Amino acid sequence: MIRQYVRELKEKGAIKSRQVERAFSRVERHKLVEWFYLPDSEGGPYEYAGARLRRRDFDAQDPDPELLKTIYSDCALLTRIDPPSSTSQPFLVAQMLELLELEEGMNVLEIGAGTGYTAALIREIVGRKGRITTIDNQEAVVEQTWRLLRGSGYGDIDVICADGAQGFAENAPYDRIVATVGCPDISFRWAEQLRTDGFMLIPLQHGPEGLDPLVRLQRDGGKLIGRFVGGSGFMSIQGELAIEQRIPFALQDSLRNKEPKEEYPLFDVIAEMQEFGRKQQWDESFSFILFVAIVDDRCVMGGLYDEEKGAILVKGDRLLLHGDESLYWDLKLLCERFEKLGKPAISDWQLEFLPRDAGAQILEEERGWVIVRKFSTETVRLA
Ligand SMILES: C[S@@+](CC[C@H](N)C(=O)[O-])C[C@H]1O[C@@H](n2cnc3c(N)ncnc32)[C@H](O)[C@@H]1O
Repeated sequence: MIRQYVRELKEKGAIKSRQVERAFSRVERHKLVEWFYLPDSEGGPYEYAGARLRRRDFDAQDPDPELLKTIYSDCALLTRIDPPSSTSQPFLVAQMLELLELEEGMNVLEIGAGTGYTAALIREIVGRKGRITTIDNQEAVVEQTWRLLRGSGYGDIDVICADGAQGFAENAPYDRIVATVGCPDISFRWAEQLRTDGFMLIPLQHGPEGLDPLVRLQRDGGKLIGRFVGGSGFMSIQGELAIEQRIPFALQDSLRNKEPKEEYPLFDVIAEMQEFGRKQQWDESFSFILFVAIVDDRCVMGGLYDEEKGAILVKGDRLLLHGDESLYWDLKLLCERFEKLGKPAISDWQLEFLPRDAGAQILEEERGWVIVRKFSTETVRLA
């Protein structure tokens, strides 16, 4: 079953290198979960992000064939609800492992241990000469993950219970720091614990909750510089880096289920993005929404949300208006601005982070934007 699972991830383009393929072939995902929650069309007793769920217990010694099939499919598995935890979607995990450019012997810090699946995959790549520290802020998660990792032969991974925002100075400096949880900000503690020639890979929220482009950042004096390297969507981090979400998952969900006031055909730019999506050109399909997230704080999945005016959203091949008509014209204007800038690809943006108290910059130029976060100021410029 693992072979088929790995083949599918290769066919989808998530697994590219021999080393990531080998890691996915060796780590047994089913030995790292004891239960998970699945959507239940008959209305399960649990709820998460607007879906009704049912808990399914899983015994790795006597595996239920259907559940085993689910575990070796390209699905994120929700393992806890309140607060949430999961094992992330394998496609995304593979994509991130490729982006991490791991080598044997590296020292790696992961923020968001979850089931430990990503940490075990990293261990397979960096080998016994490498070192892995993975942090989760939930005590029950850490207890279970540590026990299951040890039982699967990964007892040498350090599983730490703490707020990942602190990093873990004891095992620093790290060649790589990776967060597998959505972060509304970066932590400068990570920068301090990173080797000068290392980098971090962070799903950094831009726009609504769950819109988490992957940023690759390295140290450059007192700041961090880098670029966008992909798209992602994660559950949000708790603790010091958490923010009060302006457009949380629950709101996005309720917007999607509302009756629209008006419907329109898609703007060409949005239709083009959808076409990229159909061809599985994910980075290309993400470029417009990333632009909107950078330049307009009303960005919501595929459209705009305004506390006073309502929302305009993309659904299938239609634009659905749930409020003031001016939102339609605002979105149209954003499409035109995107085209005028030459439809920037995600790799065209340059990123710079300074501690927020270093003072926000005012950009005079037309091709740069400043995003003020809880602890940092991010400058996003077009190359
Ligand atoms: C999507 S899951 C991680 C998936 C995991 N890497 C895997 O492959 O199984 C996100 C995890 O981040 C954890 N988390 C949330 N806030 C955190 C924080 N401040 N520090 C460390 N972990 C945190 C959650 O408890 C959850 O287990």
